[in-house]
Amino acid sequence: MTSQDSFPRTLGDYIRKSRIALAVSSVEEDAPLIVVNDAFCKLTGYAPEDVLGQNCRFLQGEGTTDEMRRPLHDFVQGTGPANGRFPILNYRKDGSDFFNFVFMTRLFDAGGTARFILASQFDMTSALRRAGLPQNDEVLKRTLSDVEQIGREFGLAMVGSAQLIADSVALMARLSLDEDSR
Ligand SMILES: Cc1cc2nc3c(=O)[nH]c(=O)nc-3n(C[C@H](O)[C@H](O)[C@H](O)COP(=O)(O)O)c2cc1C
Repeated sequence: MTSQDSFPRTLGDYIRKSRIALAVSSVEEDAPLIVVNDAFCKLTGYAPEDVLGQNCRFLQGEGTTDEMRRPLHDFVQGTGPANGRFPILNYRKDGSDFFNFVFMTRLFDAGGTARFILASQFDMTSALRRAGLPQNDEVLKRTLSDVEQIGREFGLAMVGSAQLIADSVALMARLSLDEDSR
């Protein structure tokens, strides 16, 4: 059975319908994407058929530094905490860049083994967009709670991420201060 087959269809359907950008990868091999939703496609300019089966690093480009990429790399390698949020420079299909604030959380099977990674992308390029983060995070929190509930029915567990989202608001305030002081 491929990982795509083992991802609960109900959960896939829920994710596809969400209005915030969401993407799911298997943890197998090179973390290939198995679900992306319309909001992800709208943000990145890619269609599902462009990206399913690929690692999400195609969003990175010449301005993406190793320093930005490493925390995502370490997270996906799976040694650290169960969830994290990372700012990284990304590029859309048309080549335009955006500052992506990527949230990632692992989904564990009943034996406690990580099976999937759920990610949510947020464009924080401009101050106007950044101002939309609290609203995005309200939806993200509800989404995570729903995913947790639906996942549980299929033996998938998530380690709580509400605190991380709360901390993200503080992190982003710091990032915009850094930017303003440049
Ligand atoms: C579900 C999922 C979503 C991801 N979303 C993004 C993203 O939006 N932008 C990005 O730059 N990297 C994203 N990544 C991280 C990259 O796929 C990759 O793991 C990262 O570049 C570090 O690994 P590498 O050093 O092998 O490239 C995502 C990873 C996963 C598993």
